[in-house]
Amino acid sequence: MIPAETLQATHPAAAPEKGLVALAAPDSPAAEQYRVLYQRLARLAARRPMRVIAVTSASRGEGRTTSAANLALTAAQEGRTVVLVDADLRRPSLASLFGLAPRAGVAEVLDGSAELSQAVVRVGQLSVLCAGEVRDASAAIRHPRTAALVEQLRAAYDLVVLDAPPALAFADGERLAGAADAAVLVVRAGATPRQVVRLALESLGDLAAGVVLNDVDPETVAHGRWLYGGAREAAPAIANRRAG
Ligand SMILES: Nc1ncnc2c1ncn2[C@@H]1O[C@H](COP(=O)(O)OP(=O)(O)O)[C@@H](O)[C@H]1O
Ligand SMILES: [Mg+2]
Repeated sequence: MIPAETLQATHPAAAPEKGLVALAAPDSPAAEQYRVLYQRLARLAARRPMRVIAVTSASRGEGRTTSAANLALTAAQEGRTVVLVDADLRRPSLASLFGLAPRAGVAEVLDGSAELSQAVVRVGQLSVLCAGEVRDASAAIRHPRTAALVEQLRAAYDLVVLDAPPALAFADGERLAGAADAAVLVVRAGATPRQVVRLALESLGDLAAGVVLNDVDPETVAHGRWLYGGAREAAPAIANRRAG
C-alpha cells in the first residue's frame, strides 16, 4: 500500500545548517514541501497507525536523514511533540547534522547506562535522540530492549520519526526500524533504478506508507506531473531540491 507519495524539491543552495530547510529557511518552497508531506502523513494517520514512522530508502545517500530531520522539525513546528531518533546505528549522522556534542543516545539507553530523559536533547521544539557511542552495531540493532525503548518513545511523544537504515535492513531484522508503524521510502530522483525502488517497496510490504521523491528538478515539479500524475487518490508525493 502506497498511500502517501510526496515530492521534495532540491533545497535552496543558500540554506545553511546542511539542508535543515525547515529550520533555516521555513519560507522556502522546499520547507513548504515538508509541510505538504507532514499534512499527507497526518491525513493518513486517520486511517492507519502512524505514531512511529521510519524514513528509509533503497540505498544510502538518497536523503533519508535530510528527509527525516525536516519532517520531524516540521511536525514539531506544527505543534506536535516529536522525537527524531537516529536509528541508522551503523552510520549515525544526526549528531553531526544538528551540530551536537557527543552524548548518550540509543546505544546507552539500550545498554542501561543512560536514562532516556538524559539522552534526549532539545533542538527548538524538537526532541532528538542521537545514536550515542555504538561500539557493536550488530548487537545494538538486535538489542532485546529495543521494543521497550520504542514503546517508551511512543508513550511520550505524539510522533516518533526514525532516521532508519536502508529498507533491506528491515528484512534483516533491525529492531528499531522494524518497530515502526509505517515507513516512508525516500527515492533520489534520477538516481535510483526503478527495479531497486521496486525491491525496496517489496521488502517493506504493508509497512510502506508512501514515497518521497527527493532532489527533484523544480521545472518538472512545476508541471505537477510528479505530484498527481498516475497517483491514486490517496497517494500524495513530495519533491525536494535545492534551487538553482
Ligand atoms: N533535496 C535535497 N537537495 C539537495 N541536497 C540534498 C537533498 N537531500 C539530501 N541532500 C544531500 O545529499 C546528501 C545525502 O543525504 P542524506 O540525507 O545524508 O542521505 P542518507 O541519510 O539517505 O544517506 C547530503 O549531503 C544531503 O545534504
Ligand atoms: Mg543518513
